[in-house]
Amino acid sequence: MQNAGLAALGLNWRYLAFEVHPDDLRAALEGAKVMDFVGVNLTVPHKLLALEMMDALDESARNWGAVNTVRFEGKDARGRWRPLRDFDDAPRHVRSVGFNTDADALSRALGKDLGLKLAGSRVLLLGAGGAGRTAAMKLASDNVRDLFLVNRTRGKAEAVAREIRRRYPRVTVTVGYPMSSVDLLINATSLGLKPADPLPFDEKKFSVSHADAVYDMIYRPAETRLLRIAAAKGCRTANGLGMLLHQGAQALEIWTGRPAPLEIMHRALAENVLKPE
Ligand code: ATR
Repeated sequence: MQNAGLAALGLNWRYLAFEVHPDDLRAALEGAKVMDFVGVNLTVPHKLLALEMMDALDESARNWGAVNTVRFEGKDARGRWRPLRDFDDAPRHVRSVGFNTDADALSRALGKDLGLKLAGSRVLLLGAGGAGRTAAMKLASDNVRDLFLVNRTRGKAEAVAREIRRRYPRVTVTVGYPMSSVDLLINATSLGLKPADPLPFDEKKFSVSHADAVYDMIYRPAETRLLRIAAAKGCRTANGLGMLLHQGAQALEIWTGRPAPLEIMHRALAENVLKPE
């Protein structure tokens, strides 16, 4: 997706994957910095660890409490920090700036793939791990009216609910299933990655036919059992590919300063992500 996007923008940059042990994250980030990388993406578990390792944090990283995108910036002759793309020669002083594009990606995907307007809506969110917590905060900041949180470990959902009540007091947040229908059901648990996984919610306590739309953050498999059942009941459905696309597109924009070629990146994703490994 990123290499297709870079090529479409006519940049001779390359996007590469590196496997880094969490104990070596600081060294890897320092290495990227001194080698004048334009930026990096981070995935689990590095997103949380990197928060403490950045020289500066964008509001998005501070807001959502995780860093998935890093931009390296150099000090110019007048002492101002500017993205490395602006320099012809490697600057002597470089700093790392942490961003988060995951949270926005959820709202964009829900808008584009499901035609949803979140403000004023009722949402049932399954999962209160890293992805679930960020989703809950983002939904609250997008002014959903009622948010229902369900998680296997109830205490984690309760902690997220407390944080929402403190930060977004206008949102009504409940730990548990809704008594009536919702506009949207989101799966932010890992249930569905494996074909034998049970549904991520208790069918005795909630029926998927009570959700207008269902979003599964999982994109491989492209159709989880949850999405299959939801589609059969007539719900609008989408998988997590849109989130993956939009977090990547926004990262590309942060690095390049140019609009991401969304269609091209989407095509590259769709062609590659579902291929067997
Ligand atoms: P991520 O960063 O992808 O959110 P995570 O923080 O490990 O990963 O969270 C995984 C989520 O899937 C959690 O909500 C987890 O529930 P717990 O908080 O109770 O662990 C949920 N999950 C994972 N396996 C599960 C299972 N077998 N049944 C129910 N929920 C499960």
